[in-house]
Amino acid sequence: MKKPSSLGGSNPDSQYRPSWPKVLVAISLVGIATFFTLYSHLPGLSYEGFRQQYYHDLVGLVGGALQSYAQSPYGRFPFPDDPFHFIPCTNATLLPALDDSNPVQSWARLFDPNPEHWSWGAPTSEQNVQGRDPYSGRGIYLCGYLQVPLDYTNKSEPRIVRLAVTKYQVSGLVRINTAINTAQSSSPAAGSKSERTIIVDPGGPGASGTSLVWRAAENFTKRLSDGKFDILGWDPRGVNASLPSIACFPHDAFRDRWSMLTGQYREAAGSPQVKLELADAMNNATFHACKEKYGDIPQFLSTAFVARDMEEIRKALDEDEVTGYLVSYGTSIGQTYANMFPHSVGRLILDALEYVRDHRQLGGFGWAALDNTTDVWRDGFLGECLNAGPKYCALSQPRGSETVSLQNLEDRMRNLLVSLSQRPITGYLESSGPSLITYSAVVSAIYGALHNADSWPALAQMLYELEAGNSTLATAFLDNSEWEYHPSTSCPTSPRPRPLSHELGPLVICADSYDAPLPPDGLLWWQSLWANMTTRSWISGNEEFFSVLPCQHFRTYWPPPAELYRGDLNHTLKNPLLLIAETHDPATPLRNGKNLLNEMGKNARLIVHHGYGHSSRDKSSCTDSIIRAFILNGTLPAEQETPCYADGKPYLYGSNTTEFRTGSAVAQDPIQIWREHIQELASWNPRLVLRR
Ligand SMILES: *[C@@H]1O[C@H](CO)[C@@H](O)[C@H](O)[C@H]1NC(C)=O
Ligand SMILES: *[C@@H]1O[C@H](CO)[C@@H](O)[C@H](O)[C@H]1NC(C)=O
Ligand SMILES: *[C@@H]1O[C@H](CO)[C@@H](O)[C@H](O)[C@H]1NC(C)=O
Ligand SMILES: *[C@@H]1O[C@H](CO)[C@@H](O)[C@H](O)[C@H]1NC(C)=O
Ligand SMILES: *[C@@H]1O[C@H](CO)[C@@H](O)[C@H](O)[C@H]1NC(C)=O
Ligand SMILES: *[C@@H]1O[C@H](CO)[C@@H](O)[C@H](O)[C@H]1NC(C)=O
Ligand SMILES: *[C@@H]1O[C@H](CO)[C@@H](O)[C@H](O)[C@H]1NC(C)=O
Ligand SMILES: *[C@@H]1O[C@H](CO)[C@@H](O)[C@H](O)[C@H]1NC(C)=O
Ligand SMILES: *[C@@H]1O[C@H](CO)[C@@H](O)[C@H](O)[C@H]1NC(C)=O
Ligand SMILES: *[C@@H]1O[C@H](CO)[C@@H](O)[C@H](O)[C@H]1NC(C)=O
Ligand SMILES: *[C@@H]1O[C@H](CO)[C@@H](O)[C@H](O)[C@H]1NC(C)=O
Repeated sequence: MKKPSSLGGSNPDSQYRPSWPKVLVAISLVGIATFFTLYSHLPGLSYEGFRQQYYHDLVGLVGGALQSYAQSPYGRFPFPDDPFHFIPCTNATLLPALDDSNPVQSWARLFDPNPEHWSWGAPTSEQNVQGRDPYSGRGIYLCGYLQVPLDYTNKSEPRIVRLAVTKYQVSGLVRINTAINTAQSSSPAAGSKSERTIIVDPGGPGASGTSLVWRAAENFTKRLSDGKFDILGWDPRGVNASLPSIACFPHDAFRDRWSMLTGQYREAAGSPQVKLELADAMNNATFHACKEKYGDIPQFLSTAFVARDMEEIRKALDEDEVTGYLVSYGTSIGQTYANMFPHSVGRLILDALEYVRDHRQLGGFGWAALDNTTDVWRDGFLGECLNAGPKYCALSQPRGSETVSLQNLEDRMRNLLVSLSQRPITGYLESSGPSLITYSAVVSAIYGALHNADSWPALAQMLYELEAGNSTLATAFLDNSEWEYHPSTSCPTSPRPRPLSHELGPLVICADSYDAPLPPDGLLWWQSLWANMTTRSWISGNEEFFSVLPCQHFRTYWPPPAELYRGDLNHTLKNPLLLIAETHDPATPLRNGKNLLNEMGKNARLIVHHGYGHSSRDKSSCTDSIIRAFILNGTLPAEQETPCYADGKPYLYGSNTTEFRTGSAVAQDPIQIWREHIQELASWNPRLVLRR
């Protein structure tokens, strides 16, 4: 995971010292002339921009004591006419509070003029020949924010939402002196935005788009656009660094504490009735707390408003049509967006499809997710394990004289889980002391692992050892995935870490099904839904049930959301959508893609991606080339539906290439693989990391 703080210092070429002066500007002709020279050459800065900036500076100087202005070799950020107020990201670029009386100034003060503290993209090999400037030709991470109305439907509502936005600008930045000297000859695109900006969203609801940019922007721009287009991610209203950010617990540790009591799976020992009463009472308590803390704000978090936010982002980018890659719940934002703003649809890709119409029904968000989870387990995790063999997958090692068949392996795993449901296995680690391996925690870890086949060798190793009576690895895995608060990594130092915005998820899900009738028999209906969902999928049924159960209480605390999109999904769009649905996705079954294509008709094309895991992360050159032709050229397959197959097989990824580590993940540290998996999972689906 790329953190801003770790990048600035990791500059390999540290003997290079840029000559950036901290310019102390006095009111003098020289100063004014300097300003003109500097600002008028900044790419993309109009005369109007210059005039405003100059005016702003002059007022600052006349109005107060002599101020010092930080100047970098790339000019001063934010540019005055930039609606996103972008400044190069450092570890200090946190949004000004909502009650800040001068947020523009507070934000501008966070600009750190030292390029060594900024987050630059990885250098490419070409850049080594470009002389001593270590930043030349490298992309740059820019942090900013966009203010949007809290309530789009009420012009007299003064409250706002401040959306955190992070952009990876592929062309990097241009030094001022370079711009002056080579204004004619240098590429016009250098140091400015790309022709199109790819907006990304990881889903959730509740996943952070800014974190996704940190993790994956450099990969995304290559995969989606051959490195040509910028990548922009935002934290949706209520999420992470955006303000307000919805966390109804003051600390993550308190949420963890209660989820132990209330996150018990239906099959685990104990009465389902008692477990349901507990979970339901806690949901009520949680929404009560959200109401106390946030008042009416949950009325303004529905997907329709998130779509409006995306339209504001498009306008702020000053692009006529939106370009985007939206994943999982992000596809629900995309479907809603496309039908609310059909004339703004440019090159929009929806990957790992939901069918947003399902979410209008009570529980629909959960029960529409279940179809193929067990197929991923059987065909993928177990089946491909046997195909790969014991060198690559621990579970295909024979136990004693028995040969391992799929049926036999499935039965063994079932026996292990049944035994866990009756009595947990004990665990011990020096770092965490005594612990329990519970049914709920292991099944939740399995569901998480099915999202990403890279984690399968590690999980197979863990289950193999657990079955053989060694719980050490299982203890370490669960220790990494079960809780948000970890005393060794999140000590209550100052400033205290902000709690994660996990309550945003149920608030969005429940708002989106607000007008569905509530069951007359209350918990009886939920109990039968729970039984139904867990029968359909023992792996995902509980998790998906817990994501919708809170909706029993949403209406007690809030009137209807300010807006819900209830129109059809077949509007005539400026450009068709490119849909990607996977045959073996544990959370967004293929059926969703088929349903959506069926409704959208000629306004969409579908890639049926034959691969394992959540979204098209199981690489297929076929899928990738269709994606690039669409993003770069706007061309789409003629056929409504195109099948594409993953290039490799789980457990064997890279096994035919030279860099493959013999024995792959089995030889690598499984705990490290698991840790990386959990981090990636958090960036797609924060619900799953917190085990309920
Ligand atoms: C932020 O980065 C600066 C310089 O790179 C460093 O001195 C400072 O300790 C960092 N602060 C935090 C909170 O990480
Ligand atoms: C619009 O917002 C104002 C200010 O918060 C509030 O007083 C009013 O009741 C709102 N109107 C509606 C229809 O929600
Ligand atoms: C990005 O791509 C590189 C190489 O192509 C790969 O090693 C790395 O794991 C990728 N990172 C992410 C976050 O996908
Ligand atoms: C945003 O999410 C990331 C990844 O989960 C986390 O590290 C970061 O602290 C969060 N930021 C805020 C302001 O909550
Ligand atoms: C829900 O919580 C509220 C506030 O604590 C309480 O008054 C009410 O009785 C609770 N309802 C149920 C059904 O538990
Ligand atoms: C996914 O689920 C559907 C049922 O909705 C089923 O028809 C299909 O065969 C499943 N896919 C796989 C790969 O088993
Ligand atoms: C149990 O598993 C751990 C982790 O894989 C391993 O280090 C340890 O040697 C195993 N213990 C025994 C008794 O096999
Ligand atoms: C679950 O509910 C669906 C829809 O009502 C129904 O078609 C299905 O048969 C039920 N499945 C079970 C196992 O009860
Ligand atoms: C969209 O579908 C509805 C029926 O679901 C139909 O009445 C309507 O004509 C369709 N609109 C378009 C533009 O095809
Ligand atoms: C885009 O179109 C150009 C010109 O027709 C072609 O050379 C190029 O290969 C296309 N790119 C992709 C990714 O399809
Ligand atoms: C690796 O190569 C062998 C033979 O060259 C081929 O049969 C096999 O399918 C390849 N495996 C993968 C995962 O590409």
